[in-house]
Amino acid sequence: MQSYPISLRSSGPRIIAMKENLIITIDGPSGVGKSSAARFLAERLRYFYLESGRLYRAIAWKVVQDGVPPEDVEALEELCRKIEISVRKSDGQFRFLVSGQDVTDALKVPGLDQVTSLISQTVPVRTRLLQLQREIGGTGGVIVEGRDIGSVILPDAHIKFYLDSTVKVRAERRFQELIRQGVQVDLPTVQQEIQSRDYRDIQRDLAPLTIPEEAVMIDATDLTLREVVRRMESEIFKRFSAL
Ligand code: DC
Repeated sequence: MQSYPISLRSSGPRIIAMKENLIITIDGPSGVGKSSAARFLAERLRYFYLESGRLYRAIAWKVVQDGVPPEDVEALEELCRKIEISVRKSDGQFRFLVSGQDVTDALKVPGLDQVTSLISQTVPVRTRLLQLQREIGGTGGVIVEGRDIGSVILPDAHIKFYLDSTVKVRAERRFQELIRQGVQVDLPTVQQEIQSRDYRDIQRDLAPLTIPEEAVMIDATDLTLREVVRRMESEIFKRFSAL
């Protein structure tokens, strides 16, 4: 999916008059553009959106801070028992707090990618985050994106999307994102990391990346962000418009 800058603050009219505050999920592999789509769709619907990956990253952040080896499941269990994670709504988005400290901006750094991928495969981490995600997403008026949202976390969501595109397109997208952040990387390395994260996300025993039942599939390979969101909107409109 090609990306282009979007403004969260553009205040166009709410384009869909909704019957109710829907629970909307978007699942899909790394780098497919779930966050951008969720953010843009949330802006259009005046909803909140939750990047569930940030919760896993918040635990990974604490793991790194405390020097816990990510493979040590007992130590992870202990950390998950003690960690205080919460979210706060601010300016249309969620901020992420660990023990009251706002860590939102420290979570999307590439250094956390592999640690997050490793710890997200463990029972204590997934158990720790299950209820929290349900509490945040279950209130409605929220778009939750991740890997297991429509399948495990919110299986009764009103509408579920599954976004996909080729590894090549996803790697290119992530590469451009990192370059914009000033990170020195090369495309083959990024592609290799995406492939290894795909492998772990799909093969893991716990809540693997899967296409949820009844999900609306969108192949974003040749679509712009606007086109992806337009497809989502028209699907939502078809099913739930109050007009
Ligand atoms: O979407 P992201 O790249 O920020 O996710 C970070 C990691 O968290 C990724 O390796 C997969 C994992 N994750 C997960 O296992 N389940 C989710 N619902 C969301 C993310």
